[in-house]
Amino acid sequence: MKVTVFGIGYVGLVQAAVLAEVGHDVMCIDVDETKVEKLKKGEIPIYEPGLAPLVTKNYEEGRLRFSADPRVGVEHGVIQFIAVGTPPDEDGSADLKYVTAVARTIAEHMSSHKVILDKSTVPVGTADKVRAVIREVLNARGVDITFDVVSNPEFLKEGAAVADCRRPERIVVGTDNPEVEAWLRELYEPFNRNHDRMIVMDIRSAELTKYAANCMLATKISFMNEIANLAEYLGADIEKVRQGIGSDSRIGYHFIYAGCGYGGSCFPKDVQALIRTAEQVGYTPRLLRAVEDINNDQKLKLPQYISRHFGEDLRGKTFALWGLSFKPNTDDMREASSRILMEELWKRGAMVQAYDPEAMNEAQRIYGHRDDLRLMGTKEAALQKADALVICTEWQSFRAPDLDAIKQALRQPVIFDGRNLYDPERMYKRGFAYYAIGRGASLSQF
Ligand code: UDX
Repeated sequence: MKVTVFGIGYVGLVQAAVLAEVGHDVMCIDVDETKVEKLKKGEIPIYEPGLAPLVTKNYEEGRLRFSADPRVGVEHGVIQFIAVGTPPDEDGSADLKYVTAVARTIAEHMSSHKVILDKSTVPVGTADKVRAVIREVLNARGVDITFDVVSNPEFLKEGAAVADCRRPERIVVGTDNPEVEAWLRELYEPFNRNHDRMIVMDIRSAELTKYAANCMLATKISFMNEIANLAEYLGADIEKVRQGIGSDSRIGYHFIYAGCGYGGSCFPKDVQALIRTAEQVGYTPRLLRAVEDINNDQKLKLPQYISRHFGEDLRGKTFALWGLSFKPNTDDMREASSRILMEELWKRGAMVQAYDPEAMNEAQRIYGHRDDLRLMGTKEAALQKADALVICTEWQSFRAPDLDAIKQALRQPVIFDGRNLYDPERMYKRGFAYYAIGRGASLSQF
């Protein structure tokens, strides 16, 4: 099938490459001409496992093309994906200006029936807005062309985006037109073999499904962080509690890891956006507000432990930081806990020596040159002459480090672990002051 994808970001590029791989003829459009030119040369704007070879192969074989010319895009696809960003505006609501701009562009150039598909995470009611924008432009042009608007939210996770897209757990489709459903069944047929993963519903329910999924996951994390905080007062260990409750199949083991807070481009933004949506319709979202508050506080946990150990004034102190990205296997630092941590340390006069397996360029881009940040080439280099080690991201390569080497490199054997990677008992035996999240018995020693 001929498909056009507007927006070559995370969602758009991964989706486009995966659709091309199964044989669809995919045209990607982006207003950023530099990005388009780079992609044509095989330069991929984001780090995502498996994405670069997939894009290159399908581009070379002609099933995946890139252009900055929207007319080419509108002409090309029967199905037009809208996969542009929906950043938060000043009050936290999702800003729809890019989505409506694409809708306008499609309407300005279309000359035959199109299925317009909202892939971006958009608030309930967006499909109606997109429909209204298109109708308005078509009326102004004085043409009478039919079109459909569908909600088809994306559930991919960064770091596993290609795999998630190739093997989706579910394909949620919001439409009121059975003919459109049949087209989407054809489009997604290669991903929908063996058992039917397509869940078809009305448009508003599909739009809400996306927010509900992310907010439920964020709620699980904030819930565990709340219990972790309580465990510290009670002298209990959240890691034991996690295993205890995860074994109940109704609860499950996924997404119940306490830590220094959730980040990324989705959870913080989507929780906030659903709060605003609720407020706008006159409903008070008590649980969602608590989820957000707990997470904001959780990002301050490590700085609090650091104050407990070293006092408020950190002038003259250097901290080794392992992990800058908001989670492993990505270079994305949006809303990352590491940023709050560094900013707190800088406020108190400390120096940060940071290392991340993938996010060094991103950190350089965000912070540029500063006297109080050294970006180090290896995790070992980051430790040299630091007063303590702080861990913000659970990269595999941080899981079993040489503890003796850490002890030798640091001025003092102190570790602040925001991802609970090590066994507290073992750390004490090896002579470390070890602060982790919600590990009560261990923390009471300090
Ligand atoms: C999320 C959803 O998982 C995905 O379905 C949706 O499409 C987009 O948003 P993503 O933002 O890529 O994906 O990351 P995810 O793996 O969900 O992690 C989000 C954050 O939660 C990370 O900062 C992670 O460290 C944190 N987290 C996750 C925890 O603190 N504890 C957990 O148990 C799980």
